[in-house]
Amino acid sequence: MILQKASHLKGEVTVPGDKSISHRAVMFGSLAQGDTEVTNFLQGADCLSTIDCFRKMGIDIENTPERILIHGRGLHGLSAPDSTLDVGNSGTTTRLISGILAAQPFPVTLTGDASIQKRPMRRIMEPLSMMGADITSVNGNDCAPLRITGGPLKSIHYHSKIASAQVKSAILLAGLYADGITKVTEPAVSRNHTEIMLNYFGASVTTEETTASVCPNPVLKGQKICVPGDISSAAYFIAAGLLVPGAEILIHNVGINPTRDGILKVAQAMGGNITYLNINHDGEPTADLLVKHSALHGTIIEGDIIPTLIDELPIINVMAACAEGTTTIRNAEELRAKESNRIDVMVDYLNAMGCDITGTEDGMIIEGGKPLHGITIDPHMDHRVAMSFAIAALVAEGETKITDSDIVTVSYPNFYEDLHRLTH
Ligand code: S3P
Repeated sequence: MILQKASHLKGEVTVPGDKSISHRAVMFGSLAQGDTEVTNFLQGADCLSTIDCFRKMGIDIENTPERILIHGRGLHGLSAPDSTLDVGNSGTTTRLISGILAAQPFPVTLTGDASIQKRPMRRIMEPLSMMGADITSVNGNDCAPLRITGGPLKSIHYHSKIASAQVKSAILLAGLYADGITKVTEPAVSRNHTEIMLNYFGASVTTEETTASVCPNPVLKGQKICVPGDISSAAYFIAAGLLVPGAEILIHNVGINPTRDGILKVAQAMGGNITYLNINHDGEPTADLLVKHSALHGTIIEGDIIPTLIDELPIINVMAACAEGTTTIRNAEELRAKESNRIDVMVDYLNAMGCDITGTEDGMIIEGGKPLHGITIDPHMDHRVAMSFAIAALVAEGETKITDSDIVTVSYPNFYEDLHRLTH
């Protein structure tokens, strides 16, 4: 994909459904009794991997462009798959499904692509083993492929060293099958879609400060779910709207759950002109976002806000590269454990484009305001790196080439089409 500097960015866009919520809808719908109908489901490669895994465990899932229909079989209705479960590029599938598999009365092998096979799994292996599951890394490196032999589980109170919704969710899902109340305490609150959606299906999950607790053995009942637009996908157009001179765009139906909205707070702290319209609080909160070109300035991003914008830090790096002054990002060491090492990859390529950015152990320091120029980017199997540089390309001199540009299908299959429409 070759992209050029944009002289124009105007119009309206509806980003696809939220990836985290789409995954959970398939998983919880499979474990519920009766049908679950999901509209605005993200038809991205990651969520299709989740559908594929549950189909292999005997769940009938109809997938049409209008909706997916999951014929759930209850908490104990999964059956042993005939073959290895393939999670593709999806960390969320790997970690959340492991919590469910930890309790199933059959062994399963889970694997995925080259990126997944490098991502740390000890973080779920440890708590799930404490609950009684037998979970091993086939290559002995604490990464997938994982071999999971489930069985009866003990409830635990797990104190996680990292704020991770994937870890928290794996434990809460295993907790559905445990012999008592299971609790997870994390250092800061991570996204809470599991807690919200499990309760919607009929489970009992409570949250007090940074501790989530789940009662075992609920009866989950099939539901109707309308997935809000993904704020992590909207983030690219928020940045484009702020950065391209004269830009004005309206992004429809964006999920603004407070455990996910750090990008909006940071953009506003940097001087970004973003107006919330049509705020809706039925279920997961949503709003339309009106974004106008703004002169941005640097900021400090650290502490409890980090989990609420963790996936947006690559595009925030691009915003900071174009902002006047220094932006400092701390406490974001989790960036090294994503689809790629997002500190190293972003630092290397932004410097190559002309930015002045220094990587640190847990973040980066960006001296913004230097002119950028186009280069060739290999996204390292990371959809968010590809999309971040597609936006950087809009404000860079010359051409930016993105190799393996199709990796965006992981979370945003029509990304380049939407971007092209808004810039032409
Ligand atoms: C996700 C949680 C986050 C996020 C990922 C999706 C989820 O990961 O980065 O894209 O759906 O629970 P961690 O839990 O590893 O922080």
